[in-house]
Amino acid sequence: MENFFSVNDVDNVQELLKKALEVKANPLANNELGKHKTLGLIFYNSSLRTRISSQKAAYNLGMDVIVLNIGSDGWQLESKDGVIMDQGTAEHIKEAAAVISEYVDVIGIRCFAGLEDRDYDYNEEVLQNFIKHATVPIVNLESSTLHPLQSLADLVTIETNKSQERPKVVLTWAPHPRALPQAVANSFVEWMKEANVDLVVTHPEGYDLAPQFMAGVTVEYDQKKAFDGADFIYAKNWSSFTDYGKILSKDLSWTVNQDKMSVTNNAKFMHCLPVRRNVVVSDEVIDSENSIVVEQAGNRVVSIQTVLQEFLKK
Ligand code: CP
Repeated sequence: MENFFSVNDVDNVQELLKKALEVKANPLANNELGKHKTLGLIFYNSSLRTRISSQKAAYNLGMDVIVLNIGSDGWQLESKDGVIMDQGTAEHIKEAAAVISEYVDVIGIRCFAGLEDRDYDYNEEVLQNFIKHATVPIVNLESSTLHPLQSLADLVTIETNKSQERPKVVLTWAPHPRALPQAVANSFVEWMKEANVDLVVTHPEGYDLAPQFMAGVTVEYDQKKAFDGADFIYAKNWSSFTDYGKILSKDLSWTVNQDKMSVTNNAKFMHCLPVRRNVVVSDEVIDSENSIVVEQAGNRVVSIQTVLQEFLKK
């Protein structure tokens, strides 16, 4: 694995899952592996889980960590080629990526979608520029279109909570007051296609995810029908891909509540967090014993540690 940008960087997802389960069982087994190595974390956007879990994972491996918050701590970086840089950006990613590579051994980057220009977002200019110009591995901490560390943590969570060999997993759109990227949903679909699950995606009309992710995936526009017999309900809001970045619905009838959960196979409730209570999911569901959102967030340490190990062992 050269970088960890998407599931496509992983040779064998089942092998990686096996390694992740070993990390989960014994997180300090390789606590000398990263000695004298440094993880650089670059944040264009806010984070609670990604920031802390990445630091914790690095410490579990004996690594040092440097965090740079673009905007508040660092220069605004230019990502486009050939730009006359006489506006807000002070430094190009070409230099920044190469220079940061002089200081650290692995770089993690978070840079969300702007949700204004679909081509720009889906070309992944920032992450791809870092991959091109850095000389150390790049880890995607959530880019414009993908959140693979979340998905690997989700895979571990499903594997350790499933009660049958091939569970039914439902990804459901849920309402939200703000326009959110499609990254978590895109990645979840991408990773679940590699897992031993029956995946169903449910959302209102107009919220279809990009075709490159959805080929061969079952879509059910009737949410309650989708929930029927489900073993896992994964809730997430995303803005429209087709009417790019727009909120087409704030329909609270899509909120995950106990009435809908009652038609499932006693399903576990999942969400990547942060979550808007009583908008995305009702209190009674997220506070129920079937909610595994905290364990899921805990597995974010497992996912980044598993990926870091792959680079440190090279
Ligand atoms: N799920 C997730 O990535 O959380 P943060 O945005 O808090 O890092």
